[in-house]
Amino acid sequence: MKILSIDTSCDDTSVAIAEDLKILSHKQWSKVKLHSRWGGVVPNEAKRQHKEFLDPVINEVLKESKLKLEDIDYFAVTQGPGLALALEAGIAKAKELAIKYNKPLIAVNHMIGHIYSILSDDENFTFKFPALALTVSGGHTDLYLMKDHLKFEHIGWTLDDAVGESFDKVGRMLGFGFPAGKDIEEAAKSGDSKKYDFPRPMINSGDYKWSFSGLKTAVLYQIKKLLGEYEHKPEKKVYKLNDQSNNLSSEQIADIAASFQQAAIESVIYKLKKAIEEYQPKIAVIGGGVIANTLFREMLEQIENETGISIHYPKPIWLCTDNAAMIATAAYFYIKENKFVENINELERIPNLEI
Ligand code: KG4
Ligand code: ZN
Repeated sequence: MKILSIDTSCDDTSVAIAEDLKILSHKQWSKVKLHSRWGGVVPNEAKRQHKEFLDPVINEVLKESKLKLEDIDYFAVTQGPGLALALEAGIAKAKELAIKYNKPLIAVNHMIGHIYSILSDDENFTFKFPALALTVSGGHTDLYLMKDHLKFEHIGWTLDDAVGESFDKVGRMLGFGFPAGKDIEEAAKSGDSKKYDFPRPMINSGDYKWSFSGLKTAVLYQIKKLLGEYEHKPEKKVYKLNDQSNNLSSEQIADIAASFQQAAIESVIYKLKKAIEEYQPKIAVIGGGVIANTLFREMLEQIENETGISIHYPKPIWLCTDNAAMIATAAYFYIKENKFVENINELERIPNLEI
């Protein structure tokens, strides 16, 4: 079966075509200047871009896979979570195609896409259950116990910021663009990860809950200390997350990036390891942009060795961050379970869709 999938959850216009689990083609277009100075995507601009790009990107994937729209058996689209206006554009296009070609439509949860992204990298990979699934992206830090395909028990989450979001917020203070994960990783290479002792919040909470906003605030206070602005009653002063890069040396930026990265990644790793020990899953799978991080990958290898449980995630960076290939892969399992959109005309985006 041939699946054409669309993801417009944020600022990338992504389309893929899969034959069962094999990705035949994937294309992703985005404009560089879609971000506001304050480190976020401008939703209106994103929507305009998707409307402009969707048709040409669809044509490109069709061309690459040597198919016509008439050859497609199923259309799949991200329903949420994501930016409402951005999601709308992809959903409108998917509805139009499903109705025009009279084919079933699948509304996919973007985070389920991330969880299945390992299969977009390796179509022969097999899930073994129970599995632990971790999502680490710009909006999510969640842990699930999977007893079967598409059966999720939510066992861990963040109380405030997602881990990727904390990279982006710290990145803003250090003068990096948005998203900042990659730049922080780059800066951290020449920094000392032991220079600043940033907290690992919630580490002893005895559950699978995370919190990253305290870590971000600790970085902010450290910067203020370096600038000599820190007063001894910091709670009386509300600091803003402004770009402080002009006031910091490149050595200070590198040390902050390295120490922050170490604290953030260790926080995630610590609880993942605990959950593996408690639940003894057959495998663990991970998806989301933060999986691109090399320190994270190295630490995963360590816990694989320590626990004897294999941990899987897509190796190519484009499959870690947002893409439509993972939406086609997840759709394959929705199809197996007959999870189709019943009334295509009524399908709506759900910006806060949960698993
Ligand atoms: O999965 P994703 O592309 O989008 C969402 O669904 O949110 O994840 C984006 C997040 C951003 O917060 C970005 O800073 C982070 O992934 N990220 C990284 C790296 N590359 C992307 N975080 C740490 N290290 C990286 N190399
Ligand atoms: Zn994503």
